[in-house]
Amino acid sequence: MMSNDKMKSASPHVLPPLPYADNALDPIISAKTIGFHYGKHHKGYVDNLNKLVAETEFANLPLEKIITKTAGKTDKTAIFNNAAQTWNHTFYWRSLRPKNGGEPPAVLKQKIDVSFGALDACKKELATAAMAQFGSGWVWLVLDGDKLKVVKTGNADVPMTTGMKPLLTIDVWEHAYYLDYQNRRADYVNAVLDNLINWDFAAENLG
Ligand SMILES: [Fe+2]
Repeated sequence: MMSNDKMKSASPHVLPPLPYADNALDPIISAKTIGFHYGKHHKGYVDNLNKLVAETEFANLPLEKIITKTAGKTDKTAIFNNAAQTWNHTFYWRSLRPKNGGEPPAVLKQKIDVSFGALDACKKELATAAMAQFGSGWVWLVLDGDKLKVVKTGNADVPMTTGMKPLLTIDVWEHAYYLDYQNRRADYVNAVLDNLINWDFAAENLG
């Protein structure tokens, strides 16, 4: 398993190992998709980030610092995009797990019930947000104050820059599902929600 330290390591940034085998999420997410998504896209963001920050004021900053310092700055868009996409993908792989995902631990389940009424309503809101995201982006379960919320972000954007704490995410860029589902984003998102969500990871992120 990846440690939190890995997500905070400074340059040169490294591609963290996948927390499971590349075929562990099959057939919901195939090894072929993971090969491209992790091996090419995620790796590409890490490599680009290292090139972009070399010999700049960001060279020795941890990933999360780079994200917060470049967010919303039009002259730092490329650094922000590659830093945020590096972070988002590491968080996405950890938001998933094989073996039917399991159930949320009690502490999280209780918060889900208070905020959404039931787990099914929470999943439905995540699926609706995934479909409502026009073009590339992410859907997130976040902690906002003491309430849980579903939010979506476009392209590389992250919820932390607006004060929300991410608990889990689903990548809704086409590269996340096109090989397995072609244009059927809803089928991908619903299959992930029903089979692969790592609710223990989401609960850990409450703390
Ligand atoms: Fe992605």
